[in-house]
Amino acid sequence: MKKILCLNGPNLNRLGKREPDVYGHTTLEDVLNQLKEEASKSSCELVGFQSNSEAELIDAIHKSEDIYSGVIFNPGAFTHTSYALRDAIASVKTPVIEVHISNVHQREEFRHHSVLAAVCVGQIVGFGTLGYKLALIALLEEGKGEGHGKA
Ligand code: DQA
Repeated sequence: MKKILCLNGPNLNRLGKREPDVYGHTTLEDVLNQLKEEASKSSCELVGFQSNSEAELIDAIHKSEDIYSGVIFNPGAFTHTSYALRDAIASVKTPVIEVHISNVHQREEFRHHSVLAAVCVGQIVGFGTLGYKLALIALLEEGKGEGHGKA
């Protein structure tokens, strides 16, 4: 059975409570439950993991190669700063899709640049929590057609 990891970085455990005008009222638990249901329709298992620790996120990316066929990743603010996470993603074959709930390009200047985007297969930005589902669809489709370019 295909397994996909939904990985969330710092402060995303606060989803639903955190700046609801920017991130909405949906909790991470709600997002994961919806994704699990959606994935099961395609006989796929969706597993969620959130951490506020860069090291734990790096370990999760490393381990993903042996377990998951793809990773949906909202790296939170590490998106803009973490060369270590970039190197971790580049070190594995697992396709990683970068997701941002908010439209980072409409926000502060420091959020406009992702140091991870170049090593991800794609990026979904600004569609709220729907972005996670769009990433799941992309990973489920992957393998049926053109593919993502990571062998
Ligand atoms: C975010 C955008 C980041 O800039 C921010 O630091 C987050 C959330 C988003 O989902 O919109 O924590 O990744």
